[in-house]
Amino acid sequence: MKRVVVKAPGKLMLLGEHAVIYGYPCLVTAVNKYLTVILEEKDGESDLLITPQATNQTFIKTALTLFREVYPSKKRYIIQTESELGVYGLGSSGATVVAVITALAKIQEVKLTQEELFKLCYKAVLRVQKTGSGFDVAASIYGGIIYFDGKTKKSEVVTQDTLPIIVGYTGTKADTVTIVNQVRTYYKQRRKETEHIFAEIALCTKKAKIAIREKNWLTLGNLMNKNHALLRTLHVSTPRLDTLVKVALAAGAEGAKLSGAGGGDCMIALVSSEKRSAVVEAIKQNGGEVVNCQTSAQGVCVL
Ligand code: MEV
Repeated sequence: MKRVVVKAPGKLMLLGEHAVIYGYPCLVTAVNKYLTVILEEKDGESDLLITPQATNQTFIKTALTLFREVYPSKKRYIIQTESELGVYGLGSSGATVVAVITALAKIQEVKLTQEELFKLCYKAVLRVQKTGSGFDVAASIYGGIIYFDGKTKKSEVVTQDTLPIIVGYTGTKADTVTIVNQVRTYYKQRRKETEHIFAEIALCTKKAKIAIREKNWLTLGNLMNKNHALLRTLHVSTPRLDTLVKVALAAGAEGAKLSGAGGGDCMIALVSSEKRSAVVEAIKQNGGEVVNCQTSAQGVCVL
């Protein structure tokens, strides 16, 4: 019986969240925490899913169904997942779909380009969530720091170098779909104002791409701060996120902001090596958990 093992990385949003849903760009990075899928052929009529850390198997089942719609096969599988992504909002749904579809393509000897893989995975995520820009799937496929165009869905790798960030978890899980819908309501009520905020966020993102290429941390830090302030005007931050951002800056971070939908989950801080321990301490002392992860060049891979 054939067996395939695939590892797909999680992600962290760097700049541009929410605006990317409306067609603007964002900057996202893959992280060095992975979702592993072990796929094995089996006899019988049904698949067997073994997912000790996942309470919700919908993404796996949807990825399987979609793949079979496009590449019909009578083969049945044991699908086992192992996750290092935890509860932090590091993109486990996107990574799961990317790993499952990559594994299915490998075992059924279907050759997919990265663009074809993206299209299939994004379709699977949308079928479950109904909303989402696809940036998480892009990060998991390509690895590195990606400039993702919310309109064309094209990805550009900005760098594969490590970005000196610290990730702080608020201790509260965020529900991305709920917050995205909240912003959509706000957008419908105050279209002009919200469009202006999105355009400002997009400007930060575009400038940040250049700052990352040039390793200009002072500029990048300022752009992160501005992006956080803009997200606050969309009402997606929380007192806990604001506190962790504030104490990280006070402890010497070059910049800090919430990362992702908001409403909880994580904040990120750009920190030079001399200030690292002070920022880590400040986050911990203010009720945050420092997540042990880094930006990573590694995209999805078959082991
Ligand atoms: C969530 O991590 C980022 C959002 O922009 C949603 C998305 O792009 O799919 C809020």
